[in-house]
Amino acid sequence: MAPQLDGFFQQVDGLSDHFIDRLRKAVAIPSVSSDAARRPDVVRMAHFLSDELTALGAQVELRPLGKQPDKPDLDLPPVVLARYGNDKGKRTILVYGHYDVQPAEKTDGWATEPFELTVDGQGRMFGRGSTDDKGPVLGWLNAIEAHKKAGVDFPVNLLMCFEGMEEYGSEGLDALIEQEAQRFFADAEAVCISDNYWLGTEKPCLTYGLRGCNYYSVEISGPGQDLHSGVFGGTAQEPMTDLVRVLASLVDTNGKILIPGINEQVAPVTPEEESLYDDISFTMETLHDALGSKTTIFEDKKPTLMARWRYPSLSIHGVEGAFSAPGAKTVIPAKVIGKFSIRTVPNMEIDKTNELVYQYVQEQFAKLGSKNTLKVYAQHTGKWWVASPHHWNFTAAAKAVERVWGVKPDFTREGGSIPVTLTFEQATGKNVLLLPMGSSTDGAHSINEKLDKRNYIEGIKLLGAYLHYVAEEPKQ
Ligand code: BES
Ligand code: MN
Ligand code: MN
Repeated sequence: MAPQLDGFFQQVDGLSDHFIDRLRKAVAIPSVSSDAARRPDVVRMAHFLSDELTALGAQVELRPLGKQPDKPDLDLPPVVLARYGNDKGKRTILVYGHYDVQPAEKTDGWATEPFELTVDGQGRMFGRGSTDDKGPVLGWLNAIEAHKKAGVDFPVNLLMCFEGMEEYGSEGLDALIEQEAQRFFADAEAVCISDNYWLGTEKPCLTYGLRGCNYYSVEISGPGQDLHSGVFGGTAQEPMTDLVRVLASLVDTNGKILIPGINEQVAPVTPEEESLYDDISFTMETLHDALGSKTTIFEDKKPTLMARWRYPSLSIHGVEGAFSAPGAKTVIPAKVIGKFSIRTVPNMEIDKTNELVYQYVQEQFAKLGSKNTLKVYAQHTGKWWVASPHHWNFTAAAKAVERVWGVKPDFTREGGSIPVTLTFEQATGKNVLLLPMGSSTDGAHSINEKLDKRNYIEGIKLLGAYLHYVAEEPKQ
């Protein structure tokens, strides 16, 4: 029998202003994990979630994770572990999300204050973290509240794990997941993560794969301090010159990775996979829209999706220590650190990839014949993940999508990374599903990040409906 969801859905609609208000409060806490000065705000965000969950009747614990490895004086923010319901007759589902956000400053080009939720006439709710990942995290809390107010029995026991360091590589979380696999997470029968986005703006999807991410630093130093280029230009070998040449050797304009041995590790395309892409609802127009330009590498959907889901990519992110302000400072930077990352895919191996990168970067630098000093190292690494979408966890989610959105979802992979996805899968031995709330135009990590009101409110219904359908799937 189809679950009775009308009472719950009506409450979600009735409570929508209250739920938007909850998102407003969350966005107002600038929980930027990469900024040490914002750490008290990240901790404040953990307490906000803990207080809200406690008020809803959940059992909540804040778990300390110790010090941040690269900043030994700084405490990591706590993990919020919560349980709602403890009924042996019900299924137990584990959900994960993150309450930290990317940095944001109005001066980056935001049209509104990034930490003030601003709703425009089209129902777009702008604010840092709205879609990544505060909206989805609050979605679980809102689903609990709407059930309570509707007087509808909650369909499952819900275990929640919300972390505050995801945008910084999930420091400390792997160890906690492994440690709690047979304790706090022991009853979990399936895992659901809402921390990704639809491929476009109209069609929902369920996601069964993510790329991994290895993030590297290349440090080049020489002079004892920054120098005047009039006095020293032409007499000193310049770290920035060396770095630009090393970085330029990594990748070409069409995204081809130039490091030998990387592309060789990539799993070949199977005939079954070949046919998958045609049916996916995705257009170059929506991509151009989300990209804000037409500067794509490929003209067509299939190579574009393949490049994002199943091939590796290398991005150059920035240079620490380089002159980057407006104006024309005639400086020779003494030490510069180039940052780049590789998104990894099946069957790439982390250690082998690291070795190939280190060796190639050192070779390229050696070719320059420079007297400067080079160091290359990984800041963080995380493995790719591909799961089976032929599992009751996905079947239940597909039914929920159909019920809420009136269409069957696409089954997709993604190019982004959530490193703990694989950790959850391996530590619990259970199927993991990615169930997105937001859409392709939300602009996670960009200026003017937003979540559409419709995606938030229907998304709350979706998360709740998923729990009803997952409760009904036959035990296997
Ligand atoms: N929500 C994203 C992950 C994501 C992005 C999933 C795009 C699907 C599509 C997450 O918050 C994120 O930004 N992850 C980082 C991880 C990195 C720090 C290891 C990422 O992908 O850059
Ligand atoms: Mn996220
Ligand atoms: Mn993110």
